[in-house]
Amino acid sequence: MAPTPYVHPAVDSTAVFKSDLFKGKVLFCTGGGSGICKAMTEAVMRHGASATIVGRNVDRLTQSAQELSKATGQECLAVQADVRHFNQLRDAVARAIERFGTIDFVICGAAGNFLAPINGLSVNGFKTVIEIDTIGTYNTIKATLQHIRASKGSYIHVSATLHYRGTPYQVHVSAAKAAVDATSAVLAVEEGPHGIRSNVIAPGPIGGTEGMDRLSPKGDAQQVVYPRLPAGRLGDVKDIANMTVFLFSDAANFVTGQVIAVDGGHEHLRGPS
Ligand code: HXC
Repeated sequence: MAPTPYVHPAVDSTAVFKSDLFKGKVLFCTGGGSGICKAMTEAVMRHGASATIVGRNVDRLTQSAQELSKATGQECLAVQADVRHFNQLRDAVARAIERFGTIDFVICGAAGNFLAPINGLSVNGFKTVIEIDTIGTYNTIKATLQHIRASKGSYIHVSATLHYRGTPYQVHVSAAKAAVDATSAVLAVEEGPHGIRSNVIAPGPIGGTEGMDRLSPKGDAQQVVYPRLPAGRLGDVKDIANMTVFLFSDAANFVTGQVIAVDGGHEHLRGPS
């Protein structure tokens, strides 16, 4: 009989890292209105940073900004923008600078996803995800770079692990995220001499997120889809938040150009998963 696996719990970053780690720092996060990016933003704010969150849905964004401020005691500015449009991002960055005067950290997190086979996906469906994930990442870098140069700041891009192999019904996202990984590597190399670091977090199966709901519409991921994960559980948004805090901290000063999977060992699993 297989032993009962030990399961490490997901913990709050404040249980590990100093509470004032990011005091006086400023975060700019696309996709921060919900899901993984909202949790990443919350963690950075819990360590003393202010934040601007950017997204398309202004109601959700405003509500999230209020929740984040209340939960952390830090200021959170909500700015509506579609990352597909550079001018909107440039204006969002201007609003952030007007309010906070600087940007130290950028999370390129806005993403789109749905399940569709290559043969059933329209050209526009493919293009839409490339535009949100890949062009959106480039636009965010372009709009923030001069400020990150000034602050000697750091980028985190939110990617995925599904493009490491052929994941069915994910051609659009796989192509988009592979490009995000490559973009981050070039950014790290080109901008390293300016004091900028750029890394990718590749979340594995994270429970309770819109992405997981979209990829596991029956809501059965815990019971059926990932029962053999080495970590013994689905990921929690806190797991991604904790990696975010580490990568933005000075403890990661020699870490750049990396893609770091936070996936409970999912990528090393062989056989039906
Ligand atoms: C096939 C679809 C489709 C579907 C949309 N399309 N949904 N095709 N199956 N389920 C097609 C449309 O028919 C259209 O093509 C094109 O995509 C654009 O659709 P729109 O609805 O007009 O686009 P838009 O309103 O801009 O919405 C973008 C979106 C949407 C990506 C389609 O799903 C979205 O807004 N998503 C944001 C939220 C989200 O996805 N969060 C999860 C991210 S998680 P035609 O040809 O008809 O014009 C994530 C993690 C990945 O990314 C890794 C997880 C492990």
